[in-house]
Amino acid sequence: MNVYNACIATVFIVLVGGILPNIQAECEDYSPCACGQDADGNLYVNCIDVMPLDIQAAFSRTTALDIYSLVIILPAAGGAIPADLLAGKRALIMDLLGTSRDSFQLIMDPAAIRSSSSYTKQLVISKCDLSLLNFDFLRGFARLEELRLDTTSNVKPIENLPPLTSLVGLAIDNSQGFDDLINFPARAFSSLDHLYFYNDALSDQAVDIVLNAFLSSTSANTLTTLTLSKNQITRVPSQIVSLPNVINFALTNNNISMVNTGAFSLTAPKKIYLNNVSLDTIEPNAFQGDYSYAEIDLSNNNLVSFDYSVFQPVLTQMAGIANSTGSVFLANNPFSCDCGLAWLIRDNPNLLKATIGGTCANSTSFEDLNPGGYINC
Ligand SMILES: *[C@@H]1O[C@H](CO)[C@@H](O)[C@H](O)[C@H]1NC(C)=O
Ligand SMILES: *[C@@H]1O[C@H](CO)[C@@H](O)[C@H](O)[C@H]1NC(C)=O
Ligand SMILES: *[C@@H]1O[C@H](CO)[C@@H](O)[C@H](O)[C@H]1NC(C)=O
Ligand SMILES: *[C@@H]1O[C@H](CO)[C@@H](O)[C@H](O)[C@H]1NC(C)=O
Repeated sequence: MNVYNACIATVFIVLVGGILPNIQAECEDYSPCACGQDADGNLYVNCIDVMPLDIQAAFSRTTALDIYSLVIILPAAGGAIPADLLAGKRALIMDLLGTSRDSFQLIMDPAAIRSSSSYTKQLVISKCDLSLLNFDFLRGFARLEELRLDTTSNVKPIENLPPLTSLVGLAIDNSQGFDDLINFPARAFSSLDHLYFYNDALSDQAVDIVLNAFLSSTSANTLTTLTLSKNQITRVPSQIVSLPNVINFALTNNNISMVNTGAFSLTAPKKIYLNNVSLDTIEPNAFQGDYSYAEIDLSNNNLVSFDYSVFQPVLTQMAGIANSTGSVFLANNPFSCDCGLAWLIRDNPNLLKATIGGTCANSTSFEDLNPGGYINC
């Protein structure tokens, strides 16, 4: 149990970064659920392997209106959540877990957790099959800031997500069923800041559906962080150049052999993760914009050439600022250190400081190459 909580907490540290108020109260008898207080005295209730009607009975009996954290791990037979599960009580952070994305059908009465609607800030749904889920149970959740679907299947009902006007972050990870989507509920959000899809087997087509929906939503101007790591993406999504405020963009662990000219034409990026994507070709001027403070991670790829037309412009920006952390990570690529590298080693050695980990195929690092060896190039 502690392990599970720790996992969820870790993800939300990444997700939220915000500050939640303290909800301090003494424990009452929530049995068969367990009650406790964290180090700050915040009240938490854990219902592990408790049937929904027994959860409802426990909350009917107790008096505290506000719970800081409520974790519910339902038994295999407990997938149908009745109206007013919390008997009028409410929780700031709520984690609702089933037993398996393959077999646990989650069904929420539209009023299942309505008593929390003007209160809950974070909600996690995990290990559930969503095919029978009516997302109307979230109608009116006007304070919800973070929503995470983790280890779920048949995500299609998310197409009907009701408006969540305060949502800052949406994370869907280790989940399945995106090939059935025909649209994505980007219009439900007023000003989403971060969007995480991790290990969801997303195809290029599914990414198009999701990002096209964002392009025609108000969040097109507010998204700053977009993670599409560990999916089945084979090209840099074209929509990203139309999301002007994205500064952190992760495509790690996909299969993107080529990056086209202008693919990363961005305003002022901070972090671009293109590591471990089987990348072997980058076209001239793939990176355009203000890269002075950008960190581009190209490590663990198949890059052989380190071309002037790709890297000279961005390295010049990065190296031009005294204390910039801007840099290009190059470790674990089989670079050819023939005359194609003369522009850097012989003509612009000052730009080397903005590269990190570049090595030739024979393991000699860029820094150790002798400029004199390029005299005849
Ligand atoms: C790189 O990506 C491949 C395929 O996506 C994956 O199997 C492998 O574990 C990844 N390697 C690292 C170091 O993440
Ligand atoms: C990546 O895609 C290429 C085709 O573009 C394919 O040949 C290769 O097997 C794929 N690699 C992985 C790890 O899926
Ligand atoms: C860079 O250094 C200058 C002078 O030391 C300082 O004023 C400035 O805030 C620094 N910029 C960053 C981004 O750290
Ligand atoms: C690796 O290749 C570079 C460039 O051709 C060469 O200067 C260097 O001596 C080589 N290093 C080794 C250990 O062979």
